[in-house]
Amino acid sequence: MKRGYFITFEGGDGSGKSTQIKLLQDFLTEQGYHVLLTREPGGTAISEKIRDIILDKKNAEMCDMTETMLYAAARAQLVQQVIKPAVDGGDIVICDRFVDSSIAYQAWGRGLGDLVWDINRHAVGDYMPDLTILLKLDPMQGMKRIKSREQDRIELSSDDFHRKVYEGYLNLEAMDSDRIKGIDASQGIDRIAEQIRDLVEDLINR
Ligand code: TMP
Repeated sequence: MKRGYFITFEGGDGSGKSTQIKLLQDFLTEQGYHVLLTREPGGTAISEKIRDIILDKKNAEMCDMTETMLYAAARAQLVQQVIKPAVDGGDIVICDRFVDSSIAYQAWGRGLGDLVWDINRHAVGDYMPDLTILLKLDPMQGMKRIKSREQDRIELSSDDFHRKVYEGYLNLEAMDSDRIKGIDASQGIDRIAEQIRDLVEDLINR
C-alpha cells in the first residue's frame, strides 16, 4: 500500500491553527482522501491524560524539565499508537502541533536549548513531518485574540516567553525551509487557506 502523508500545523497561541486545520481537513476529504486529524499534546487516551497534567493551571509549580519530558512522553505514545500506523496505512495525518512546538516553547521559550532535541529524539527518532505549516502572527496579536477565553498554564506565561517562542519558530523556519513553510497569519482566513491548499497539493503531486 502507498504510504500517506504526515502534515503538522505550528504557530503561537491565537495564530488561527484550529480554523485552518478544519478547512484543510474538509478540502482533502472532499477530494476523496482519508484524513486523520489529531493533536499534541493528546490524541491517545494516555496522551490526553498527560495533556491534562501539563495544561492544568493548578500545576503552577511544574518545573521546565518535567514539562519538556511530559510533552515528549505524550508525543512518543501518539507517534507509535496513531501517527505511524495511519501514515503507513495510506492516510493523510494532520497533527495540530508536533516536536517543533517543543523546540519553540521549551528550547526557546523556557530557555532549555539543545537538550530539548536530545529528549525528543527518544520520542520521535527520525520520524518527522513531510510538511509543516507555520502560521506566523505577532505574538502580542495572538495573545489579544485569545484574551476572551479561559487560558491554560502555558498560555498564562509572560509576554516575554511568548516573544521568545515566536523567535524560536522563525529560527526553525530559517533552519529547515524545505519542510517548514511560513504563512502570514494576519491575512484573511480564505487567503491563508488558499496558500495552505497550494502547499499541500505541491506535496501530494511531488
Ligand atoms: P494547544 O493550545 O495548541 O492545544 O497547545 C497546548 C499548549 O501547549 C500551547 O500553549 C502550546 C504548548 N506546547 C508546548 O509548550 N510544547 C509542546 O511540545 C506542545 C505540543 C505544545
